[in-house]
Amino acid sequence: MTAFAYRNGALHAEGVSLVRLADRIGTPAYVYSNRALVERYRAFATAFAGLDALVCYSVKANSNLAVIATFARLGAGADVVSQGELFRARAAGVPANRIVFAGVGKTEAEMEAGLKARILQFNVESENELRLLARVASQLKRRAPVAMRINPDVDARTHAKISTGKSENKFGIEIPRARELARLAATLPGIDLQGLAVHIGSQLTSVEPFAAAFARMAELARELIAAGHGIRRLDMGGGLGIVYDRETPPDLASYARAVRDAVDGLPIQIVLEPGRYLVAEAGILLSRVIYMKEGTAKRFAIVDAAMNDLIRPALYDAYQPILPVARPRPGANLATVDVVGPVCETGDVIAPGRALPPLDDGDLIAIGGAGAYGAVMSSTYNTRPLAPEILVDGARYAVVRPRQDYAELIGRDRLAPWLKAPAAAKRKTKKKK
Ligand code: LLP
Repeated sequence: MTAFAYRNGALHAEGVSLVRLADRIGTPAYVYSNRALVERYRAFATAFAGLDALVCYSVKANSNLAVIATFARLGAGADVVSQGELFRARAAGVPANRIVFAGVGKTEAEMEAGLKARILQFNVESENELRLLARVASQLKRRAPVAMRINPDVDARTHAKISTGKSENKFGIEIPRARELARLAATLPGIDLQGLAVHIGSQLTSVEPFAAAFARMAELARELIAAGHGIRRLDMGGGLGIVYDRETPPDLASYARAVRDAVDGLPIQIVLEPGRYLVAEAGILLSRVIYMKEGTAKRFAIVDAAMNDLIRPALYDAYQPILPVARPRPGANLATVDVVGPVCETGDVIAPGRALPPLDDGDLIAIGGAGAYGAVMSSTYNTRPLAPEILVDGARYAVVRPRQDYAELIGRDRLAPWLKAPAAAKRKTKKKK
C-alpha cells in the first residue's frame, strides 16, 4: 500500500488524512489513490514497450467512471463484458476502437451495441455465438471484427472460482474446435476473423501457466496464418496476481517476457487486459469499528463495512490486509480478532483470526487491496446503501460516487397496484364521511 502511508500518526491516502476523510464523508468508504493508479498503469505499459501493444483495462475490476477515465487519459483501451460496461467505457472517454468485448454470453442487443459503436473486437467463445454475431452484423451491413477466445486447457493454479483456462471451465473454445471454427468463420459474410484471445484466470502467482497458454495460442496463430486466415492480433487476457498477503506473483518483467517469447517473430498487435494489477493496491476500504465484542471463544471487531461492501473474503476466503488508521505504538501487542461486518450472516467476515494492534469502539481501519473487485461486487444486501468512492490526488480529493441515500435505495421499488388499493380505498371512505 505504497500510496497509503502513516504521517503524523495517521494513515493517509497520498496527502489526505483518512481520519479527515472519515469525518467528512463517513464510513464505510472506498478511497482510491490517483498516483497509485497512474504509477501502476505506466509500469505496466512500459513493460511492453517496443511491442505493438494495446492495454485494455479490464473495467470489471473497478468500473467507476473516474477510474476508467484516469486510464483512458493515459491512452488505455477497455476490456468490457457487458453492454453496461461498454456504456461506462464510452462515457469515460475510451475510444471505441480501443474496446474489446469479451464474455461467454453476449446477447443480440449487446452485439448490436458493440457493432454500432464500432469497437475493436469481439472475443467470441462458441460456435453459436459466432453464428449469431454473423447474423447480427449482416443485418447491420457490417463485418464484426472477431478474435476467437481459445481454451488452452492450462491450469492457472489459482482459486477454483476464478480459474478459466481448463477444459471443464465454461470459457473459450478448445483448440481443435477453434481450427474448425476458423474455417467456418471464413464462410460467414458478417465475420472478419482478426485474432485469437486467451484468459486462463485471475490472481495468477506464477508465470508458467501464462507462458504455456501464450505458447499454445501463438502456435495456433502461426498455423492459422499459414492456412491463409487474417490473424493479426493476439489478446493475452489479464490475470497477473498481486500481493495481498505473502503471495509471490511474477514481476512485470517476467510476465512481459512470457508475452514477448510467445509472439516472437509474429507480425501482430498484442492486446492486454489487466484489471486487478492496475487497481487493487490503489484502493482501500475505510471502515470504523462499531463495537468490540468479547465472546467466550473469540474476540470480534464489528466494523461498519460488510460482505455487501466487500465480498471477496466471504466468497473466496480471500485475504485482505488490514491496517489501523491510527499508527500503532511501536511494540504494541497484537491481539487476534475476527473482523466482521454487521450483516446478519455468519459468513459476513472481513478477516477471520487476524492479529491486529488493540482496537477500540470508534477506531478506524483501512482494508487494503480493495481497489479491485471491491465496489464493483458490492450489493445493497440488508438494505445497506452502496458505499461512496473517493479519489485522492495529492492533497485534494473528489467524491467520485456519493453514498447512496435511502430514498434512492428504495426508490426503484414499486407497490403492485393491488397493494395500493387498501390505502386508496381508505382515502375514499374518509372522503365520504
Ligand atoms: N480478461 C478477462 C476475459 C477476464 O475474465 C478477466 C477477469 C480479466 C481480463 C481481468 O483479470 P485480472 O487482471 O483482474 O485478474 N472477482 C474475482 C476476480 C474475477 C476475475 C474475472 N475475470 C476476485 O475478486 O478475485
